[in-house]
Amino acid sequence: MKLIEVKDYNEMSQKAAEYIIEKVRNYPRINLGLATGGTPVGTYKILIEDHQKNGTSYQEVTTFNLDEYIGLSGNNPNSYRYFMNEKLFNHLDINKNNTFIPSGVAKDIQAECLRYEQLITQHGGVDLQLLGIGQNGHIGFNEPGTSFQSNTHVVDLAPSTIKANARFFDNEEEVPTKAITMGIATIMKSKEILLLVSGESKNDAMHKLWNGEVTESFPASILKNHPYVTIIADQAAVAGLKMHS
Ligand code: GLP
Repeated sequence: MKLIEVKDYNEMSQKAAEYIIEKVRNYPRINLGLATGGTPVGTYKILIEDHQKNGTSYQEVTTFNLDEYIGLSGNNPNSYRYFMNEKLFNHLDINKNNTFIPSGVAKDIQAECLRYEQLITQHGGVDLQLLGIGQNGHIGFNEPGTSFQSNTHVVDLAPSTIKANARFFDNEEEVPTKAITMGIATIMKSKEILLLVSGESKNDAMHKLWNGEVTESFPASILKNHPYVTIIADQAAVAGLKMHS
């Protein structure tokens, strides 16, 4: 894992956007894996600005999002489909038919998991996966204890995740308790991973990731076994980190 330390959230967003823009420009048919949550919002803003100012095109780009809440349709403002449309897709020249997110309202959710996993494979896999990290080390919605062998699957959200994500909803009761997420194995199949970590609330997770062992009780730790991971983390997230241990 390569660590790029930056000053703050804005610098993290800038660096991450530059990283992605360069890839898209060099490889216009790239398959991008995308994430939701507060962390990538700044990055998405800069991608939009760059598209408008410099004309970076997403016409041939395909995207696969990590996860979606079960029970929320794409019209629901709290769904990740809605989030992605609002925060990114509506403002780029991307073909929406090439933006994939698991459906949280599929009649047969197990079949939807299989379909999504196959869809990624049929497209040749994810070239660059953008990731955030949960305070408990979750990636996508893979909570502690998830098998490292997991493909796209249904999860029960951890109480701490529901609490952390309640800030996006009117109240905690409205946060869905289940989600569909790419599995750990799905994420590990991506050719390259860009992990963004910002803020004091992620400091503990950053310590466990950097200095801890690889264990299913801390899902992000698996990234140590991936050959091509870049972490962009701000000072608050890396404070006190022993860089060599
Ligand atoms: C959410 C998402 C993850 C995200 C993480 C961190 O629950 N499912 O994909 O990376 O939690 O969120 P945030 O960036 O808001 O801290």
